[in-house]
Amino acid sequence: MTQALNTRGPDETLSLGERMGRLLKPLDILCLRGELGSGKTTFVSGLVRGLGIPAPVQSPTFTLERIYRRKGLVFHHFDLYRVAAAHTGDVGIEAALQDPAGVIAIEWPESGDIYLPGDRLDLRFFHSQGDARRIRIEARGQRPKEILAALMRCGRSRRKAS
Ligand SMILES: Nc1ncnc2c1ncn2[C@@H]1O[C@H](COP(=O)(O)OP(=O)(O)OP(=O)(O)O)[C@@H](O)[C@H]1O
Ligand SMILES: [Mg+2]
Repeated sequence: MTQALNTRGPDETLSLGERMGRLLKPLDILCLRGELGSGKTTFVSGLVRGLGIPAPVQSPTFTLERIYRRKGLVFHHFDLYRVAAAHTGDVGIEAALQDPAGVIAIEWPESGDIYLPGDRLDLRFFHSQGDARRIRIEARGQRPKEILAALMRCGRSRRKAS
């Protein structure tokens, strides 16, 4: 199941992330691909908000992993841009995948591919005109499909209300 959405500026990407964050539970995994500056970290900031974690999100480019906690949930945010495939074992992906309270989001996941389970949400970000972005979300597996269907439902009811 695949859906494509458009946002007109960073605020809309943030809200979309927030809406998805509200739907996530431990063991959910998201991969975020797409060019530099296409909005992946912005979306992740929205996830953190939607998960109910009161913290600002910085790009983890220099730390590889940032961890956020709230009751019953640990959010692991990775950015593997600078990681060679041979070193992904060292950056904590395997440990995060074992975390029963873990929700995981990985920017530039290519070098961690071998560790990733097949069931996950694959997001791809594209630059469009100016501040517009296109975000393609592919749900692989039953639980990811439920999340994506719920995201599309809450988008529809929001549009009706406005
Ligand atoms: N529709 C939009 N959605 C998201 N960000 C946008 C949008 N329009 C403009 N921007 C700007 O583009 C930049 C996106 O940066 P962000 O760090 O989220 O990208 P990224 O995909 O994580 O990049 P990187 O690959 O370097 O990690 C920000 O400066 C943001 O303000
Ligand atoms: Mg980023």
